[in-house]
Amino acid sequence: MVHKVSLGRMKLTDFRNYAEVALTFDARHVVLTGDNGAGKTNLLEAVSFLSPGRGLRRAAYADITRVGAAGGFAIFADVDGMEGEVAIGTGIESSDESTSRKLRLNGTAAKTIDELTDHLRVLWLTPAMDGLFTGTSSDRRRFLDRLVLSLDPAHGRRAGDFERAMRSRNRLLSEGRFDPAWLTGIENQMASLGVAMALARQEMLGLLSRLIDERHEEMPFPSAVLELSGFFDNQFDRPAIDLEDDYAALLRDGRHRDAAAGRTLDGPHRADLLVRHKAKDIEAERCSTGEQKALLVGLILAHARLVANMTGHAPVLLLDEIAAHLDEGRRAALFDLVDGLGGQAFMTGTDRAMFGALSDRAQFFTVSGGTLEG
Ligand SMILES: Nc1ncnc2c1ncn2[C@@H]1O[C@H](COP(=O)(O)OP(=O)(O)O)[C@@H](O)[C@H]1O
Ligand SMILES: [Mg+2]
Repeated sequence: MVHKVSLGRMKLTDFRNYAEVALTFDARHVVLTGDNGAGKTNLLEAVSFLSPGRGLRRAAYADITRVGAAGGFAIFADVDGMEGEVAIGTGIESSDESTSRKLRLNGTAAKTIDELTDHLRVLWLTPAMDGLFTGTSSDRRRFLDRLVLSLDPAHGRRAGDFERAMRSRNRLLSEGRFDPAWLTGIENQMASLGVAMALARQEMLGLLSRLIDERHEEMPFPSAVLELSGFFDNQFDRPAIDLEDDYAALLRDGRHRDAAAGRTLDGPHRADLLVRHKAKDIEAERCSTGEQKALLVGLILAHARLVANMTGHAPVLLLDEIAAHLDEGRRAALFDLVDGLGGQAFMTGTDRAMFGALSDRAQFFTVSGGTLEG
């Protein structure tokens, strides 16, 4: 049995269109309905800030603070989390661009925002992700890294350290400072971090693929075949130390080329996630819009199951406008699947009737102009 992580209470201050709102939830799913622009996605965004990073819109903090507010924004939540009950407070104190997000856990200032992952994992699917397969590789990389991060919180630090090392290498090269000892030191660091990043991605995709294969019969969504490309393709069964040596050598031999290009041309920062529709055996980007959405829903739900299996705690799921494009049968199947994951899901839509099949498995709120009614 997995433990259900759930939000008990949440309070928002000067968050988007919410001046001040306090909500009480039980552990069931939460359905938010209301007109366009009411503040449904804003509420999901607030929940997404209970995980590290810039939330489901990847917004600048200054844009999140309510227009007209004097200071910053704040989110408080009582969570039945992975280590028991925890009171989470997060936000920014002023809307100056350079400000970073603060975190308090049970009233005590946390060292880093990453400590949130000790308490809950939050996964989401929003309409903005609909173009994932046809969009840029950097969006897919970010998506991939979020999947890894929810299983392996150290992935974020590795990726950040790799970025920093790569930036200092790029700077040295662009300034024409080919100091071999210095460059070799940085490149060795990039090699060990870069290979660790690639291996973490590969491991997550392996686990996810296995789960998709095992579960495909009970899934009302098409199965995806997942593959990494662009960095040590199909070589991940080689010892990590060999990959590190190869990557360090690649960097060393590529110094002049990278100096001319003004960036590092090889590395995990150039990798891409390739997704195929398994039954049709075609690339996801060549599938119809509806098929792409179905693939993505299947992928997110499989990942949620993986996180639950691996951690013993079902993640909080944010599903924005997910029911809109599905017929009634598919919708009912989706709700059963979401419910079967054993976690708390937040779902939005314009019409409450769309969520009828959830009946008493969910609590319903109507959102309008920055207020909520139960
Ligand atoms: N920083 C902000 N201050 C005040 N209102 C905001 C801010 N950011 C967004 N909004 C408002 O929030 C509304 C959109 O809310 P959203 O949650 O996306 O609606 P929906 O219910 O359609 O998902 C818009 O009316 C937008 O103007
Ligand atoms: Mg919305």
